[in-house]
Amino acid sequence: MKALILSGGHGTRLRPLTYSQQKQLIPVANKPVLFYAIEDVIEAGVKEIGIITGPNREQVIETVSSVEWDAKITFIHQGDPKGLAHAILVAEEFLDDEEFVMYLGDNILKDGIVKHAERFRELNPDSLILLTEVNDPQRFGVAELDESGRVKRLVEKPKVPPSNYALVGIYFFKPVIIEACKNIKPSWRNELEITDAIQWLVENGYRVEASIVEGWWKDTGKPEDILEANRLVLDDIKRDVPIKTKAKIHGRVVVGEGTEIDVNTVIKGPVIVGRNCRIVNSYIGPYTSIGDGCVIENTEIEDSVVLENCEIRNAGRILESLIGRGVVITNAQKFPIGRKLVVGDNSQLVL
Ligand code: G1P
Repeated sequence: MKALILSGGHGTRLRPLTYSQQKQLIPVANKPVLFYAIEDVIEAGVKEIGIITGPNREQVIETVSSVEWDAKITFIHQGDPKGLAHAILVAEEFLDDEEFVMYLGDNILKDGIVKHAERFRELNPDSLILLTEVNDPQRFGVAELDESGRVKRLVEKPKVPPSNYALVGIYFFKPVIIEACKNIKPSWRNELEITDAIQWLVENGYRVEASIVEGWWKDTGKPEDILEANRLVLDDIKRDVPIKTKAKIHGRVVVGEGTEIDVNTVIKGPVIVGRNCRIVNSYIGPYTSIGDGCVIENTEIEDSVVLENCEIRNAGRILESLIGRGVVITNAQKFPIGRKLVVGDNSQLVL
């Protein structure tokens, strides 16, 4: 089985971070979201992965190629993002009439996909979709099932959802899906929807089965989703503090090589601190990820994601924040005292 992982799109709901970074590369617990998808398909036995790229093609290629993967990776450029079914058509040559799993690169799944890949092999349907119960099905593709659990109908972002079963962004397909993608029309948002292609399979007598996701699942489309995914991933980390420090480090904390933490600092896990950071006289509270090369002084940070190379000094208490790369936060030293901001377009500040 091959895999197709999607890493394109503009990520407008994650601005301003996505002005300079592809959304699937934003880290959760100091690892790009995209890497969780790559690891999951490799764990399920996939040896050939196609990665669909979009606006920040070079960035995706560079980041993925900086790691040695136990699979062959091919990058496929989508150009304009015209929908998930369009991405399959762009990858037609790569897919080469084989069955495959399609994995949206901004999705994170606690338990991986091994169990679902086995179910796909066992039931041998034309498509196996992953579903999970949610409170807000209007935000997703939604499935209606018959008494035997087989898929009867799919609708994309319905105003009146037929059930609470949302489509998780992971799908198993036989090659017939290509014919389906060629036979559908663009939706109201002018995209070739994968939901419509699967609905085409149902209507044309092909068998579509469902597999229910029991552990947590997160589509990291918005800042609060990144924070939530960060909490969920940090909940599973194990303590690893290989450096010498006299700081008070409680519970499940991971610290990278070359990081210095002074005696006055307190860290309460679950927390991950990257490499070559300097943390002085600060409190790092539960559910925080600090990227490589950050300096944090006289500051409290809790329940937050801080990307690489930030400098945060005398900043008071920071909570539930998502801070991009190379951000400097400090307090006013000279008059006039006040809030002095240089922030990018579409930033959000709660002061
Ligand atoms: C896409 C799919 C939707 C699915 C969701 C999961 O939505 O179209 O059916 O539920 O991914 O992440 P989008 O992220 O394009 O809004």
